[in-house]
Amino acid sequence: TREQTMSTHAEADLSEVLVVPDQHPATLEACRRCRLWHDATQGVGGEGPRHAPIMMVGEQPGDKEDLAGRPFVGPAGALLDAALAEAGVDRDEVFVTNAVKHFKWAQRGKRRMHKTPGQREIEACRYWLEKEYEAVDPRVVVALGATALKSVLHDYRAGLRDKLGDVLEWEGRLIVPTYHPSYALRAPDESARKQAYDTIVSALRQAGRLAR
Ligand code: URA
Repeated sequence: TREQTMSTHAEADLSEVLVVPDQHPATLEACRRCRLWHDATQGVGGEGPRHAPIMMVGEQPGDKEDLAGRPFVGPAGALLDAALAEAGVDRDEVFVTNAVKHFKWAQRGKRRMHKTPGQREIEACRYWLEKEYEAVDPRVVVALGATALKSVLHDYRAGLRDKLGDVLEWEGRLIVPTYHPSYALRAPDESARKQAYDTIVSALRQAGRLAR
């Protein structure tokens, strides 16, 4: 439970655990800044230690996250956990969230298929990312994929590929762009998946160094 999570963290330095939907439950649930609330189970806010030096920003909750109400609990989250461990970054140093807080999807047979959020949705939801920035005040922001990068840089034409390996700066925060973990799961061939995973690990290692 959340109480247990909090007491687990209670002795650590990064002690106070912040679960954003708990902090303003009515407001994220009541959000009507765009239409995505309509077909989603619930809004999924960020989660992690309140003063985590690193914030990882994904795209939007997936099917599992939409049902659980927590970010990165599905396959993409498992890949991130492995990549963090390999990069030597402690899970307690990281606040995880998404650029868009509601799951955007379309029905395909029995499955809810992910749909990429558009500029208006990213822009509307930036309101919530700002709240998380204010609360956590991370020094380093890891942008996982192009949607996150667009949101974090306020640039809806920003592309990812020409910025991989760079460290950018935005309003005093260091921005580390990398692939979205789903790309490392779904790239067409094994060598592309491996290359994407290794790129994510390097980015997280870089974020860890910058945060210290
Ligand atoms: N993909 C994301 O971008 N975010 C999640 O929370 C889960 C999958």
